[in-house]
Amino acid sequence: MTEIKASTGPKYARIYSVGSATPSRVIDNEFLLQYIDSSDEWITQRTGIKERRWVAEGENIETLAMEAAGKAIERAGIDRAEIGAVILSTISHYHQTPALAPKLAHQLGIPDAAAYDISAACAGFCYGLAQAESIVRAGQAKYVLVIAGEVISEITNLEDRGTAFLFGDGAGAVIVGPSETNGIGPVVWGSDGGQENVIWQTADWHTAVETGVFPKLGMDGRAVFKWATSFIARATKKCLDGAGLTPDQLDVFIPHQANDRITDTLLRYLKLPETVVVARTIRQLGNNSAATVPMAMDALLSSGEATSGQTALIIGFGAGLVYAGQVITLP
Ligand code: UT7
Repeated sequence: MTEIKASTGPKYARIYSVGSATPSRVIDNEFLLQYIDSSDEWITQRTGIKERRWVAEGENIETLAMEAAGKAIERAGIDRAEIGAVILSTISHYHQTPALAPKLAHQLGIPDAAAYDISAACAGFCYGLAQAESIVRAGQAKYVLVIAGEVISEITNLEDRGTAFLFGDGAGAVIVGPSETNGIGPVVWGSDGGQENVIWQTADWHTAVETGVFPKLGMDGRAVFKWATSFIARATKKCLDGAGLTPDQLDVFIPHQANDRITDTLLRYLKLPETVVVARTIRQLGNNSAATVPMAMDALLSSGEATSGQTALIIGFGAGLVYAGQVITLP
């Protein structure tokens, strides 16, 4: 048998930098009351959300992704020609083909990088990070740019009082590269397609063309809530176990921003010490699907609530159902 050379890479990978972008239009709870029978009090108490950001004229998934990625590249201080792969996680880019990642790479001045989109809903960033870590350690790219970008406002059904108030638009990005020490723990990930109908698109493209109705998001909120507070709680513990850490060794917790009450339940389950900094960006940004984790990471680092070098647990979960989480060293 002819021997085929295998690629080899560095022993470890880490996140070098993070960047994010939020659109300019601030939507408070009051604004949504023209569409749904609800109240600011109910939305705040049930979710934590006070406001979210939606795209305005001239803003879209491309502008948001470009801004977040541009910041991440600049902050990493690397030569962009050495970025060998660009992964965009999104469920709200409306072209099935071509993917948006090659265009983003081109516009960012990254020559000849492998570039592709992935679809893993609210777990998308953590899926992308897992791929990036493996790509770097396998020596298949020196640096990987992982972007998560969403414009969920355009697929939000404003008349659905179960979802209209939940989502916001935005993007986050990180650069992953080689490291002397380990900065990304083993991913804990999986899926349960048996629950594909818990979060859904109201029509496929064929039906949309036939009916002339643009597909929107639908969700059985209670079912997702139950899954997140039981199964996902156990997954957070597995992330810590996989990284060989106990809750008291954690500095920061960045769960997917789906609901403050889900976050509270995860905190109680993990018995995290009160000193652990917990992401609560949902209050100002809503649920940004794939982008929540990197957006929250950037927000905590920019505000000084978290600092570079700290140990953080991140986890995303959502439509599929899918989930992924890791312990990381903050950039
Ligand atoms: O990132 C993707 C994953 N998504 C999530 O993780 C979302 C997970 N689910 C949730 O966050 C919550 O299920 C929601 C925030 C969506 C809903 O909260 P809930 O506490 O599960 O509400 P519920 O559906 O159980 O409804 C409770 C009550 C009902 O009234 P009764 O039957 O108790 O009288 C609803 O009719 O609240 C009522 N209700 C509302 N009231 C005011 C439902 N929606 C609204 C509303 N405003 N918008």
